[in-house]
Amino acid sequence: MTFKTIIEPFKIKEVEPINVTTEEERIKHLSEAHYNPFMLKSEHVLIDFLTDSGTAAMSSRQWAAMMEGDEAYAGSRSWLKMEAVIKDLTCCEHILPTHQGRAGERILYGYLGGKGKVFISNTHFDTTRANIEFSGAEAIDIPIEEAKHPMLEHPFKGNMDVSELERLINHYGAENIGGVILTVTNNSGGGQPVSMQNAKDVSAVCKKHGVRFFLDACRIAENSYFIKHRESGYETKTYKQIAQEMFSLADGCIMSAKKDGLVNIGGFLALKDKSLSDACTNLLIITEGFSTYGGLSGRSMEAIAVGLQEVFEPDYLKYRIRSTAYFGEKLYKMDVPLIWPIGGHAVYIDAKAFYPHIPVDRYPGQALVCELYIKGGIRSVEIGSVMFGKYDSNGKLIPAPNELVRLAIPRRVYTQSHVEYVIEVFEKLFDGKEQVRGLKIIEEPKFLRHFTAKFERANP
Ligand code: F0G
Repeated sequence: MTFKTIIEPFKIKEVEPINVTTEEERIKHLSEAHYNPFMLKSEHVLIDFLTDSGTAAMSSRQWAAMMEGDEAYAGSRSWLKMEAVIKDLTCCEHILPTHQGRAGERILYGYLGGKGKVFISNTHFDTTRANIEFSGAEAIDIPIEEAKHPMLEHPFKGNMDVSELERLINHYGAENIGGVILTVTNNSGGGQPVSMQNAKDVSAVCKKHGVRFFLDACRIAENSYFIKHRESGYETKTYKQIAQEMFSLADGCIMSAKKDGLVNIGGFLALKDKSLSDACTNLLIITEGFSTYGGLSGRSMEAIAVGLQEVFEPDYLKYRIRSTAYFGEKLYKMDVPLIWPIGGHAVYIDAKAFYPHIPVDRYPGQALVCELYIKGGIRSVEIGSVMFGKYDSNGKLIPAPNELVRLAIPRRVYTQSHVEYVIEVFEKLFDGKEQVRGLKIIEEPKFLRHFTAKFERANP
């Protein structure tokens, strides 16, 4: 017998109260946070869809494993457990623990990068781009053409444009390519999946030119779900087998375990090449810690070892992907413009289409982020020109390709009624949306400006 209701495949053992605030209070909190949700106190947030990173609820099995944490500085039993799980999953011989994904990025891309080097990706995540650019190298995004059209239906909108990859490698010269990075799923591109065929094609081009190929694998289990259900030939494979096949195509990966590791902190670098791993290990020890903990406690490593196995459980993945789709499909039916089809970990609203009267240099995405908070206490994040905009030599904004707002869903945290509430808030956002004003930036740092930039309401 089949049922159309997909239930949360867990029951709740411990609860964390959330605070209900009034609209009046939220207007004050937001102005004190300079219209930047990163500066809000979490106690002032009702539904926190800022990120799916490090926000998962851990299982009773993970909490139990944490009690076994071996906090030895070197050769910890917990590290050996984590290492064994990752080796089995990634097909890589050399595993380096890191406190989160970007620590691995800094080490690997800092080492392979530098002035004159170029990195190519379906879409670099913001910290990936920042680490590459900070090293002096250049980061180029080449998503497929279909990815540039929010409403266009395509099963694997996270794919990389393989002919453009070949062209860029020829243009810059293989020796100048620091690495090719396939982000699965493609976070900044709407949480869209990458097909196995695309990974195979990218791998073949990289092998032909002798260029290194890495996976940014923080949502690899979610990506595997889409492959099993959308790509022919994978129907009978397990999610883990699909992930293993994708890892086998690459020279290594970076993974922030804060996503599909189902933990609150942690990450790793997995590499096939010993000399590259040796070089990275030296850098790891300088800033992260010894090579058997890399900045993690023994108990965190225990939780990762369990989380990386739980995430491939079919009931969990079905709930995860279907509940995100449920949320997005309801908004779609209400004519909220969004990235279609719905991705794995988040729903991405097309703010430029929602607020067509707000020009891009007045940041329609940030305006929607502010409205969601004021009207409903919902925290979300802009993924548009606040996050990725640059300035030309005259100080004029070079906008990002899209003005999106991401509602990222923490894993195993919210129930369906929380989602129903958010949908209701969206219904209310339609009233008077033409009067919503944009924002201007009054203060910003040089890198990753969205985290700390301060805004002010722009005049109508
Ligand atoms: N790569 C991708 C695709 C990511 O989404 C993230 C983090 C990282 C790398 C960096 O990992 O945070 O552990 O250092 N994404 C979070 C987000 C922050 O909200 O999407 P980290």
